[in-house]
Amino acid sequence: MKLLSLLTIAFALIAKDEFFFEKPYLQLGDRPSPDKGTLDLMWLGHDKDVDFLVEYKTGRSWIKASPKLIRRVDFAGTAPHRVYSAPLTKLKSGESFSYRLSVNGKSIFESSSVARKDSKSDTHFVVFGDCAANTAGQRQIAFHAAQQKPDYIFITGDIVYSRGRVSEYQTNFWPIYNADQPDPLQGAPLLRKTLFTGAIGNHDSQALIDLALNPDPLAYYLYWSQPTNGPALTPDHQFVPKFKGSEEIKTKFLETTKGAFPAMANFSFDYGNVHWTVLDANSYVDWTSKEFRKWVLDDLKSASKAKWRLVGLHHPPFNSSKAHFKEQRIRVLSDIFEEGKADLVLAGHVHNYQRTHPLTFKVQPGFVLGVNQEVPGKWTLDKTFDGATNTKPNGVIYITTGAGGAGLYNIEQTVDKASWQEFTSTFISTVHSFSVIDTTSKQLTLKQISAEGKELDRFTITR
Ligand SMILES: [Fe+2]
Repeated sequence: MKLLSLLTIAFALIAKDEFFFEKPYLQLGDRPSPDKGTLDLMWLGHDKDVDFLVEYKTGRSWIKASPKLIRRVDFAGTAPHRVYSAPLTKLKSGESFSYRLSVNGKSIFESSSVARKDSKSDTHFVVFGDCAANTAGQRQIAFHAAQQKPDYIFITGDIVYSRGRVSEYQTNFWPIYNADQPDPLQGAPLLRKTLFTGAIGNHDSQALIDLALNPDPLAYYLYWSQPTNGPALTPDHQFVPKFKGSEEIKTKFLETTKGAFPAMANFSFDYGNVHWTVLDANSYVDWTSKEFRKWVLDDLKSASKAKWRLVGLHHPPFNSSKAHFKEQRIRVLSDIFEEGKADLVLAGHVHNYQRTHPLTFKVQPGFVLGVNQEVPGKWTLDKTFDGATNTKPNGVIYITTGAGGAGLYNIEQTVDKASWQEFTSTFISTVHSFSVIDTTSKQLTLKQISAEGKELDRFTITR
């Protein structure tokens, strides 16, 4: 082996943390409703037995948590490692807390966060998609999102490029969103301080997983811990990704995920006065399915007491970009979003920022969704809503916020209004950006902030 290769390996071994394969991060866990302020503190350990002590406090005294080994990840292309989780169960809605991990009486990590908020609470959170591609834009967004001190971050899919693999999380996700110091050139210590939640995108969940080329796929189902209250799915259901290749690796993957795959594909949860319905918008799911449509409608209706109902998914139903223009299949759910009184539908996939006028949509009678993903129909637009002087929308507002780090799409269309569809009110593709949403019982405000921290767009909805 060449000297340079030996030095590279030696450096990697020295640089790697003694106890963590990846440092701590916060997750919802399988809790659609807030259980007081409970959050799961998770981390990745090396493939060796370590007796981690986890403690947290809101006042003076430390409370012991009960960490559990969730799974051991051992796939080709990455070193074996272990996923741990410690539920922090004695937190009250919205309170600040500190936590620390120790081994053999020695503190090895400390940080702080804010407990999950109950239905009476106002919220302040960040949304973006199409992000972990290891780009300068992604790092800037991470830095500026952290400056916002959000309650949580929601990712609208395409979380990790280019195939959502375990090995790609190591280069594109953890080092940037869990950087030790905030730095616009590096990222920010977000994951350890801020709850991350989100939807799965096409890059996280390829329709056909070739296990020979992609031996460590679907890392979303290994590392994330989100609710599993969506429509019932089994690994061989027609609406889940298919595997090609070794039966042995497939079996190992299914055993490793321990039920998270595919149950974590669709779900809903409440955070503060907001209800989120989170959908897998990938083409392997047919959202004209009666059973799946019923689940979405029932879910939105069950949240009638929430002040705000948001839908989070990857593929935008109403998009003016020439990129992905024909992928309109989620339009088949627009009647459900309207009947369920969704306020916003937040998507990614298209790497820019777009906002529609409030709209309602009627799919062309007799239309059958097929190979052609275009969905013809008629929209009704509320062009009187401007989000400033008129803040009462008549219809659903569709947001594309896919400018979170991956290469921007159709920059030229930003100034070419003639190229926008009639339903589009704002289109910004000249810069990476993210959405900041504030909710109170009376109003919701969305601000779109650039990778340099400048406000690009703003609108308010009032009740
Ligand atoms: Fe995508």
